[in-house]
Amino acid sequence: MTQEEVFKKIVAHCKEYGFVFPSSEIYDGLGAVYDYGQLGVELKNNIKTYWWQSMVLLHDNIVGLDSAIFMHPTIWKASGHVDAFNDPLIDNRDSKRRYRADVLIEEQMAKYDEKIEKEVVKARKRFGDSFDEAKYRATSANVLDYAARRNALHDRYKRAINENNLEELKQIIVDEEIVCPVSGTRNWTDVRQFNLMFSTDMGSTADSSMKIYLRPETAQGIFVNYLNVQKTGRMKIPFGIAQIGKAFRNEIVARQFIFRMREFEQMEMQFFIKPGTELDWFSKWKESRMKWHQALGFGAERYRFHDHDKLAHYANAATDIEFLMPFGFKEVEGIHSRTDFDLSQHEKFSGKSIKYFDPETNESYTPYVVETSIGLDRMFLSIMSASYDEEVLENGETRTVLHLPAQLAPVKLAILPLVRKDGLPELARSILDDLKFHFNCQYDEKDSIGKRYRRQDAIGTPFCVTVDHQSLEDKTVTLRDRDSMEQQRIKIGDLCNVLSDKVSITSLLKTL
Ligand code: GAP
Repeated sequence: MTQEEVFKKIVAHCKEYGFVFPSSEIYDGLGAVYDYGQLGVELKNNIKTYWWQSMVLLHDNIVGLDSAIFMHPTIWKASGHVDAFNDPLIDNRDSKRRYRADVLIEEQMAKYDEKIEKEVVKARKRFGDSFDEAKYRATSANVLDYAARRNALHDRYKRAINENNLEELKQIIVDEEIVCPVSGTRNWTDVRQFNLMFSTDMGSTADSSMKIYLRPETAQGIFVNYLNVQKTGRMKIPFGIAQIGKAFRNEIVARQFIFRMREFEQMEMQFFIKPGTELDWFSKWKESRMKWHQALGFGAERYRFHDHDKLAHYANAATDIEFLMPFGFKEVEGIHSRTDFDLSQHEKFSGKSIKYFDPETNESYTPYVVETSIGLDRMFLSIMSASYDEEVLENGETRTVLHLPAQLAPVKLAILPLVRKDGLPELARSILDDLKFHFNCQYDEKDSIGKRYRRQDAIGTPFCVTVDHQSLEDKTVTLRDRDSMEQQRIKIGDLCNVLSDKVSITSLLKTL
């Protein structure tokens, strides 16, 4: 199966089992907007809890906030989003399709990388066991030629992006002979800037209405509240404010399922620090956030840092945590050293002093900020991608299984009476009535036990309890592990304790 096919299967699986549905589906959907179904919302809530508790519970100097989506429009002028939150877009005149110029060029660079990998694969087949890959990469004329072209393109692109040179971006597209994937032509318009913020009007009459924006990041709600929180919570620098909430961006290229959406959710933490200490805190948060990701157990090789070539208008250092999705390494989280840019701008635009008074040194200053900003939907996609598996069993059958971390799984336990008679359903229901206060459990008595196991495997339920005739006699059940499919007999009275250790988010937090 190619990675593209795997990705299609994951998208179909998300829909079939009630994780993610296209929004407004009966009206043919709405571009890049999705709804989370009955299992999706549980998984999403568990990811939120894991993040929130790792920030707010585990740090006595980080507190939470829930600020409004609507904010005073001047906030977005001050933050730079009105003037600089743009993507460079280009239209193909024949297909009438709109693209991000930077994405077209990045895809062209990826094509050179793919060509290099194809050469290596061909050579490996040709030379067999005697193949020396490092030597081949360093000496093959074709590989060196593709690498040189890729590097030249990268340097030219980086310069154009840093200088905001739209004409040069267009020229690169022309020189590289990039064609529109739909029309196949090179009939391109000029590159223009396109602001990504959605706007609407607030107010009841035309005269009194005010143009306001749907927030493109949750961070500004934290900045404009930082002094409220600091004073009322008696916070001392360094301290952080964490928030989970919706953000909105009118993305030009909206594809790859929930990877790039127009309405999405962010989990952001702004850490307020003394100027001059920002690079230390930046590397501490880099390390801490990577640990948080890797604690899920998908393997360190699926993650990497990507330091930014082009810094956003507010940052003096920035990196992404990238995850290996079925369509390559992609950004899931950004860690940015935002200096005092935002707070200084709000001070300037509001005319109010929002300086921090340091009681130890008796001085006032504008704090610097290091932020960690993770997309909840991308995190969701990374977890689904890493968990989805089609396993060939010893008997030749294939089972579809989601190897979700047990602590994040939407359903923790399925309770299954072996047959629908002899008092087994009653005993199974009484177990459910006990455990439902502790975990999200499902009761299922329909179909053969094998089919019921498969249904639970497909939604990532880590454990199944089967109630059989022996259960009536000795008050034991079998506990089946999703991944190993092994079963052990266990006392009904021990279930709660045994499972708590394995499925509680606390057990995950303890590894951090
Ligand atoms: N406050 C900083 C900020 O918003 P960002 O890198 O633009 O930084 C942070 O966004 C994270 O939000 C990204 O790493 C990504 O996970 C998520 N994100 C951004 N745009 C998104 C979109 N259109 N759809 C889904 N997630 C998105």
